[in-house]
Amino acid sequence: MDIRLDGKVALVTGGSRGIGQAIAATYAACGAQVVISSRKIDGLQRAAEEIRAEVPDAQIVPFAAHAGDPQAAHDCVQFAVETFGTLDILVNNAATNPHFGNVIDVDPPRFDKTVEVNLRGPLIWTQEAWRQAMNPESTHPGGCVINLSSVSGLQFNDPLGVYGTTKAALIHQTKHLAGELAPAVRVNAIAPGLVKTEFARMLWEGAEPDAKYPWALERLGEPQDIANAALFLASDLASWITGEVLVVDGGAMIKGGI
Ligand SMILES: NC(=O)c1ccc[n+]([C@@H]2O[C@H](COP(=O)([O-])OP(=O)(O)OC[C@H]3O[C@@H](n4cnc5c(N)ncnc54)[C@H](OP(=O)(O)O)[C@@H]3O)[C@@H](O)[C@H]2O)c1
Repeated sequence: MDIRLDGKVALVTGGSRGIGQAIAATYAACGAQVVISSRKIDGLQRAAEEIRAEVPDAQIVPFAAHAGDPQAAHDCVQFAVETFGTLDILVNNAATNPHFGNVIDVDPPRFDKTVEVNLRGPLIWTQEAWRQAMNPESTHPGGCVINLSSVSGLQFNDPLGVYGTTKAALIHQTKHLAGELAPAVRVNAIAPGLVKTEFARMLWEGAEPDAKYPWALERLGEPQDIANAALFLASDLASWITGEVLVVDGGAMIKGGI
């Protein structure tokens, strides 16, 4: 079965590298028109060039926007709608983790920054997508939202407790929005385990290239592992799935670790 997204418009936050770039490239390869956003336009342009090199007919445009900034969210969603006519798929992928350490030690600015980007951000972007494109009164109603959570939102993960707190809350927010926006819009979350990106570099750097990890499938995740899940959830194959969390972790949690 060939999964296609022809005629769909997608917006991926944090699309300039890592998991977000892999999702954007996968959506483009499956026929979607894609807007990628992140803070830095240079990184976005490089990602767009890399995706076009992989997918020569890719329709992909960058837009610089801070995921925690309501005005930027409004402007970026407006840009997607003006550029491609609507917005069908929103992937809230951008996240931050300014505090490595115990939850008990976090200071208010770092706590607030983590909430601003990882929890309030996905809400604001979903509000904009709903109001500007996906609501039932829109000219192109309906769509889906995919929130990047984490296995850190499902279990204790020292020293990522503050980050994990926002990712746990994002799962609850996903379920609420799924109930509120149904049946027009499906809202789901993906909870990745350890994936080989810049974000998690300090957790995997230094390991042997062929190291066996202590979880069921024994290897580190690749961005494409998460992009495959994001493709499934965005596609019609997932048309009866909403309010769910898809764990993609190589079987780390069933072995009791990440
Ligand atoms: N890698 C893992 O092991 C792992 C595990 C579980 C969950 N996740 C989740 O997966 C998602 C993607 O992570 P990743 O590993 O792909 O990270 P990454 O490689 O570091 O990429 C992060 C992306 O987000 C952008 N970004 C960062 N802060 C931003 C902000 N305030 N506003 C807008 N864009 C921002 C970055 O671009 P700019 O610098 O240009 O802004 C970049 O495009 C995150 O939600 C993360 O929590 C990752």
